[in-house]
Amino acid sequence: MCGIIGYIGERNAREVILEGLKKLEYRGYDSAGISIISKNSLKTVKKVGRIKELEKDKKVKDLFGKIGIGHTRWATHGKPSEKNSHPHLDCKKKIAIVHNGIIENYQSLKKLLISEKHKFNSDTDSEIISHLIEKFYEDNLEEAVIKALRLLEGTFGLAVISKDKEEVIAAKRGSPLVIGIGKNEKIISSDVAAVLKYTDKVIYLKDDEVAVVHKKTVLIRKINGQKVDPKIHKIKWDIKSMEKGRFKHFMLKEIFEQPETIRNALRGRLSRSKIKILDEKNVRDIKRIILTACGTSWHSALIGKYLIERIAKIPVEVDYASEFRYRKPLILEGDLLVAISQSGETADTLAAIREAKKLGASTMGIVNVVGSTISREVDFGIYLHAGPETGVASTKAFTSQVTALLLFSLFLAQTRSIRIPCKTISELKKLPKKVKDVLKNSKKIREISKSFKDSKNFLYFGRGINFPVALEGALKLKEISYIHAEGYPAAEMKHGPIALIDKEMPVVFVATKSELSKKIVSNIEEVKSRGGRIIIITNPKNKELKKFAEYVIEVPSTDEAISPIINVIALQLLAYHIADLKNLDVDKPRNLAKSVTVE
Ligand code: G6P
Repeated sequence: MCGIIGYIGERNAREVILEGLKKLEYRGYDSAGISIISKNSLKTVKKVGRIKELEKDKKVKDLFGKIGIGHTRWATHGKPSEKNSHPHLDCKKKIAIVHNGIIENYQSLKKLLISEKHKFNSDTDSEIISHLIEKFYEDNLEEAVIKALRLLEGTFGLAVISKDKEEVIAAKRGSPLVIGIGKNEKIISSDVAAVLKYTDKVIYLKDDEVAVVHKKTVLIRKINGQKVDPKIHKIKWDIKSMEKGRFKHFMLKEIFEQPETIRNALRGRLSRSKIKILDEKNVRDIKRIILTACGTSWHSALIGKYLIERIAKIPVEVDYASEFRYRKPLILEGDLLVAISQSGETADTLAAIREAKKLGASTMGIVNVVGSTISREVDFGIYLHAGPETGVASTKAFTSQVTALLLFSLFLAQTRSIRIPCKTISELKKLPKKVKDVLKNSKKIREISKSFKDSKNFLYFGRGINFPVALEGALKLKEISYIHAEGYPAAEMKHGPIALIDKEMPVVFVATKSELSKKIVSNIEEVKSRGGRIIIITNPKNKELKKFAEYVIEVPSTDEAISPIINVIALQLLAYHIADLKNLDVDKPRNLAKSVTVE
């Protein structure tokens, strides 16, 4: 989704901003723009399409100055076009703003501003902000911004410059914003990824805070005027983890990082047979757990339900965050809402947390991005320590989420004196090695992918704890290859999807050893007798199934509770290779955003 970058310091702001915009590309965007102040003039260039195009533009090459802002836009109000992309200016072309979020009352404010003779150039909600600031601006930019913000309903991450001021004003409500603290320079961004090259010290702005950023200082106030003493955080991600290295795509790199990222999720949390992951007092009185998330994270929540109910015997509900927040949920005493999120910024997940809190539930996060809004708003939580995930299609974050949910289930069992299954513990310890073994299938899966790259549809089936793996396999494929794919519990096949099966239809069965593996055999036979093209994910010893399959992908045997982590990696590779063989932009699939910060 939209990304913000701002700079004030001693370097050429254009370079820092273009570099920053490239770091924000992975979030998804359709257009981009930049404004630079140079010698008291404000210059702005915008372009539809990739940052590369913006960078090549002669007008951009001619930009020189030490203060500037830039933006990647992901269209919400108004289609992708030059006029709708940011920065937006005021009538006198003196002020420039970049905005993330949605201004809900923009129509009434726009009417008011038009009646006061303001001329608008775009169809966006964002443009009213530059005009409102213009309306209030005499000689104090911060004051004018605060007056404008007081009128806004909705969400914003905002950076503002004015050609007569040596400062950048930043503000936030609902959309993330960080300020990177360099010695004689400051970098403002919606994403810590764009700041790391320059500094590892950041201030996370909180809702309704406004920062006046000079090259040497940052002064923060609340919109109500109250002064704020900001906390400076140190970021532990190293810049190398944000580069592709020897891999063709970030997604492939991230798939191959999984032995290490899973090891990081386990580190220090599993000693002998003891699990140390949270403070016991936080979970002692829990009677019910509600897992909530969006997208891939919602699939890990579905697996979490199987794990927690089976291992810790606590009832669990799973809700899409977007549904939870509006369905007037019943919260009972002893309810814990667990929000799962890679980015820690997903708007619906954040809103679900706020709703649950309002209704009296305690809240916990399972989050990857340290310091993200969700991680700061929940009562307590577990970090994944998977490092930055750049590919839009989530891979390593998913397997780390499932690992964290498994540790959480074991921890809950431990606090209730329920016997922890020894096999699960011993297999967890072997997991990073087994993940390495699945990755050895990559070449073979690429070969298999060659015969499916032109398929138009795919079906994925799994049972029990591997049903969500079928959903995730289908999601990965549709996200990056644009092949229509659906996942189902295998027993549901007869209730609809079987009608689709013919000799063109690839059908993937996740059929590793489990309590239900015998039952899946009859589904496989039914597909076989209708001529479907069968791919089976199974364990080496499972000879019985192999005779039905056109292709078999063998993955290491493990405990059933851990099998989703191993099985999904085979499906990540299948989706990746099919998309790559189709020459698609795997890391930046069309229309998708890495971090969905609006409803
Ligand atoms: C977007 C991303 C998905 C992700 C989902 C939830 O749709 O493209 O990869 O699973 O948001 O994001 P979160 O950061 O909350 O896990």
